[in-house]
Amino acid sequence: MIRVAFFDTKEYDRAAFAQYDDRSLLAFKFLETRLTEDTAALAKGSDVACVFVNDAVNRAVIDRLYANGVQVIALRCAGYNNVDVKYAFGKLRVVHVPAYSPHAVAEHAMAMLLTSVRRIHKAYNRTRDFNFSLNGLTGFDFYGKTVGVIGAGKIGRIFIDICRGFGMRILVYDKYPAGDNLEYTALEKLFACSDIISLHCPLTDETRHMIDAGAIAGMKKGVVIVNTSRGGLIDTEALLAGIKSRKIGAACLDVYEEEADIFFEDRSGHILNDDLLSRLISMPNVIVTSHQAFLTEEALNSIAEVTVNNIRSCFVNSGRCENELCDRCGRIGQ
Ligand code: NAI
Repeated sequence: MIRVAFFDTKEYDRAAFAQYDDRSLLAFKFLETRLTEDTAALAKGSDVACVFVNDAVNRAVIDRLYANGVQVIALRCAGYNNVDVKYAFGKLRVVHVPAYSPHAVAEHAMAMLLTSVRRIHKAYNRTRDFNFSLNGLTGFDFYGKTVGVIGAGKIGRIFIDICRGFGMRILVYDKYPAGDNLEYTALEKLFACSDIISLHCPLTDETRHMIDAGAIAGMKKGVVIVNTSRGGLIDTEALLAGIKSRKIGAACLDVYEEEADIFFEDRSGHILNDDLLSRLISMPNVIVTSHQAFLTEEALNSIAEVTVNNIRSCFVNSGRCENELCDRCGRIGQ
């Protein structure tokens, strides 16, 4: 039997994974706590630590998991910037879910964008209060506008297709452009020409704060920025300054660089200690969702299925597991 310590469990995770908990092949220990240096000991007796986007799997955590007999870290998400994959090499195998529903994320990006530009969030609140005034609700047509997409991978490409449906011109920046007929351009030109910029590249040392004060200075006045990728892609202080100076017309944020201790929990009734996030949320042209883009039934079922297959594959195959990240750490075979 493979024993899995499941960190940062939410109700919706449990619902999707419970069907695989047959206690003969696979047994889950669902833990509500995040995986940290202090909680790593809870994985003692487990073969696998199953983690999510904000479980910080750093060196100390890896050492503790390893010392407690854990063999595999199973990320139930695509991004793995929160795991020190290189350090884990030779101790713990790391698997992830490369794609679960890229449609879920791309559709959420468009949902936020439409909500923001057509002021749906404001109209919803007004009409609930029987306020039928249209003042301040003027948006703009998407048709004919230019959208800059950074990262034309699985999610970016679906977002591009959705934008095409609106009759938008699409500029693309990708560090590894595929030989296709997308209109690839330099990042600076994308910044200068786009009415809307949507981020769909991974967070790496190179992409951290790719949207900073310098980048914002090179953008069109009134640009709308959409981030459903990772918070660290944006220097939040620079974003806030851009909003205050009216350079940025609106921001749609499903992710935030300091989200780890805030998102996914009900903090209503508490005083939020993060002044930057509070200020952003107070802005009339900022929409924040708390890392919700993936949250569809299809995506949750797919995450559960692929994670379970990844785990089984690690214990069945002596070679590399399915969806193992080790080949990307550059140390395979050493
Ligand atoms: P993907 O790997 O299919 O595509 C990423 C693209 O970014 C690739 O085309 C790659 O060439 C490009 N890229 C890599 N380095 C780059 C750089 N320095 N500059 C520009 N482009 C670069 O990944 P996928 O599935 O499309 O996911 C994209 C991101 O979305 C993930 O990294 C993850 O952070 C985020 N995500 C967010 C979710 C949410 O719920 N908000 C859920 C799932 C993913």
